[in-house]
Amino acid sequence: MFHLTRSVTWQALERLHAETANDRIRDYFAADPERFDKMSLRVGGLFLDYSKHQVSEDVLDTLIELAEHSALVQRRAQMFSGDIINVTENRPVLHTALRTLGEGPLMVDGKDVMPEIQRTREQIQRFSDAVRSGEWTGYSGKRITDVVNIGIGGSDLGPNMACRALLKYRHPDLSFHFVSNVDGTHIQKVLNRLDPATTLFIVSTKTFSTQETLLNAKTARRWFLENAGEDADVGAHFIAASTNKTAAMEFGIREENVFEFWAWVGGRYSMWSSIGLPIALSIGFDGFMELLEGAYEMDQHFLKAPFRDNMPVLMALIGIWYINFHGAETHAIVPYDQALHQLPSFLQQLDMESNGKSVDIFNQPVDYKTGPIVWGQTGSNGQHAFFQLLHQGTRYVPIDFIASLKPEPGFEDHHFALLTNMLAQANAFMEGSQKGGQLDPYSCPGNRPSSTLLLDELTPKNLGALIALYEHKVFVQGVIWNINSFDQWGVQLGKQIAGEISSRIDSRSQDFDASTQGLLALVRGHFHD
Ligand code: F6P
Repeated sequence: MFHLTRSVTWQALERLHAETANDRIRDYFAADPERFDKMSLRVGGLFLDYSKHQVSEDVLDTLIELAEHSALVQRRAQMFSGDIINVTENRPVLHTALRTLGEGPLMVDGKDVMPEIQRTREQIQRFSDAVRSGEWTGYSGKRITDVVNIGIGGSDLGPNMACRALLKYRHPDLSFHFVSNVDGTHIQKVLNRLDPATTLFIVSTKTFSTQETLLNAKTARRWFLENAGEDADVGAHFIAASTNKTAAMEFGIREENVFEFWAWVGGRYSMWSSIGLPIALSIGFDGFMELLEGAYEMDQHFLKAPFRDNMPVLMALIGIWYINFHGAETHAIVPYDQALHQLPSFLQQLDMESNGKSVDIFNQPVDYKTGPIVWGQTGSNGQHAFFQLLHQGTRYVPIDFIASLKPEPGFEDHHFALLTNMLAQANAFMEGSQKGGQLDPYSCPGNRPSSTLLLDELTPKNLGALIALYEHKVFVQGVIWNINSFDQWGVQLGKQIAGEISSRIDSRSQDFDASTQGLLALVRGHFHD
């Protein structure tokens, strides 16, 4: 059986690591004045500079070989054509179909899924147009002013991040709120500010069985009926995005207001589906289609560009170089754009839920590191919080800097300061301040790698391309590590035990470990006599 770490290419990379571990990135620039041109590329409105990496031409060539000798070409084709690549859940993985603008059928289980995708897009269009124009009214005849998305994980992070990122395109008379946490203070804080007559709730849940979301949805419905009156029309104020139409209808949502999607859309890959409804409501259906178009263009690039010029493939391979050969444990995402402040959280779920795996697709434990800890926050704030450790600490943390070039009119000076701060940091991380000889407390060692991703402008289209880029990066890494990036059994275990604990709170059950039982006794004291 194929063994990744015993492959010729993997061992060549180990040798190259030993040979280049002490190379200085700045020396690569000194040796090759063309390095920036060679190690940067543009796809549509996205520009990637990957020259500030501890990656020599030889290393890059060998990483490309690693991709060529992997199952990437085959698995990529399987994903796009709807083969079952999520083997543990026996499902295809077809978020790319949701944004396809291409012609032609896409068969899943002998059925063309494109007509259903098109039907749901039309449903999203009709509904978002009606709410935005004021044609859709609540129980008292007033138009909707506030939209509350109730969902968690993939049913929250994608639309939440995108609505904030695209705030400047938002309908001026609509406000958006996202309730995810089961902590009652989250929903309470949101509801306190709202008028039931003008509020629309979207219950976003793929399964319609997630405890947190159902509890929040029930609390919202109770609040609605208490404040609007028992006879107020729940159906005019509650809609759902779910694959579980029956459960949504049992909750009281009208059949025509259940926006369907399908088992083959993973939660963390679902912002392109009905889960993206808040985005269409906020920026309009045309804007939502532009988001899909940007993702579609990135899909086409990922499918067609040779690996050496393929943005997601390059980002994935450079990540593998650091994780598997330099021993990097984490990867920082630092957007220099306040509108992208939710991006690190979104990418954290995308990457960590996908590639947080230690058994391969042959059910064998892996003997190499897989997905990194993904974390981060916006610059320039991060500069005054965690950058110190990145400059002078003992850890090796590759960074993705992300920014959009176009300034907001009237704030050119702010934008200039923002971008120059980012460039200064990337430069400082690489160059350091050590002028030779011993390190002292005042000097920074430098040689700390980063990518810089520039968007021409933060438009729906470029955001779509950016998210699809990271989705494919995560996919490529999963393929090379031979893991299934599309299940999440660890999360399922947590959900299952939460259910067991709450159902047995009265039983004085001895089924749990002594610590859990001891803690449960303390909890019980607050809820039961
Ligand atoms: O966080 C785990 C997870 O299973 C995610 O994959 C999913 O996005 C989230 O829970 C919420 O699940 P649902 O959309 O079914 O409520």
